[in-house]
Amino acid sequence: MRIIKLKVFISLILFCTVQAQKFNQLAQTPPMGWNSWNKFGCDVSEDLIKQIADAMVATGLKDAGYEYLVIDDCWQIARDEAGNIIADPERFPSGMKALADYVHSKGLKFGLYSDAGTKTCQGRPGSRGYEFQDARTYAAWGVDYLKYDWCNTGTQNAEASYKLMRDALFQVGRPIVFSICEWGSNQPWLWAAEIGHIWRTTGDIQDCWDCEYNWGGMGVVQIIDKQVPIRKYSGPGHWNDPDMLEVGNSGLTESENRAHFSMWCMLSAPLMAGNDIRSMDKKTIEILTNKEVIALDQDPLGISAFKFVDYGDREVWIKPLQNGEFAYCFLNRGDDEWKVNYPLKKDWLPDPDFGWKSYPIDGSFTVRDLWKHKNIGMSDKPFQGTVPSHDVVVLRLFKQ
Ligand code: GLA
Repeated sequence: MRIIKLKVFISLILFCTVQAQKFNQLAQTPPMGWNSWNKFGCDVSEDLIKQIADAMVATGLKDAGYEYLVIDDCWQIARDEAGNIIADPERFPSGMKALADYVHSKGLKFGLYSDAGTKTCQGRPGSRGYEFQDARTYAAWGVDYLKYDWCNTGTQNAEASYKLMRDALFQVGRPIVFSICEWGSNQPWLWAAEIGHIWRTTGDIQDCWDCEYNWGGMGVVQIIDKQVPIRKYSGPGHWNDPDMLEVGNSGLTESENRAHFSMWCMLSAPLMAGNDIRSMDKKTIEILTNKEVIALDQDPLGISAFKFVDYGDREVWIKPLQNGEFAYCFLNRGDDEWKVNYPLKKDWLPDPDFGWKSYPIDGSFTVRDLWKHKNIGMSDKPFQGTVPSHDVVVLRLFKQ
């Protein structure tokens, strides 16, 4: 009798331990895809999403690694009598299952948005009290990615609320990337690694280089600054998320788009395009699909860059890469061009986080400019070049 009781007890413990986890194999490199919010807000529909899926393939975004097509807020309209979430039938007449099938037929993955509170940020039904039911619905529709927001949560505890949805998703058994969106309000980098695959670190990105609003929205440089103290919490399967890209929307210049994109890659950020990819100009495509810069973001080590030198508006960022290689990003935040003369050769590189661990710099490297797509010399010579205002030069030091 005692042995049976012990067995039941042990199975119960095992059951509970197995339940309390996220899908660990997902997002080993930062997720890449497209999200509707930055450009389309609530103006989402089945037609738009199908056209975006087609454009992801036609423009080369899919080939460059963009995989998840995520519909943000406003796809949902109500719950039925049984509590099931209903997609807006006017905007999504064929239903979410059919739309997910279409997205999957293009070789892409499908994502949706919900909220941990009673209502989403746009006042649509939230998942509070319906977590397990919603998780079952998403799995039945074929959802692969869930962005989970934090509006209308009252006195809810963030960690507990996100754990609840993680458990619901895990119990249903379909691997779904879980994107935590509580804007960094409760320091998710301290508790979310076991819960979600990515977590927002700031308020909403705005389509501007340098701007900040009382309600929490901010521009590219404000977001970059907020990543400095928390980079060490990011890594394979659990990434800091400095928010979706504004590349190709109207607020940033070409230089700013390039700098924004490069810095997100240096930071190992999720790369969720947020522009109208059906009508991008050539420059925007070139930026979003620069495979050499994307390779920094997707480097398997997943070490986020650190700010090595800060000369006010001029910064040198370094990202350690696999096989003892490095990327350098010269970021010019100022209004004047920056004439750089910078020694690349060092014997070792101290990392300000991770207990000042130092990376050995082993021998001489071939230096490649990742925007010019050209080898520009060897690392034993200083880098000499010009960084235009609000722009970057990104170098990769390749082992020969
Ligand atoms: C919040 C999120 C945004 C977006 C909107 C949708 O503001 O941070 O990314 O999802 O809600 O309403």
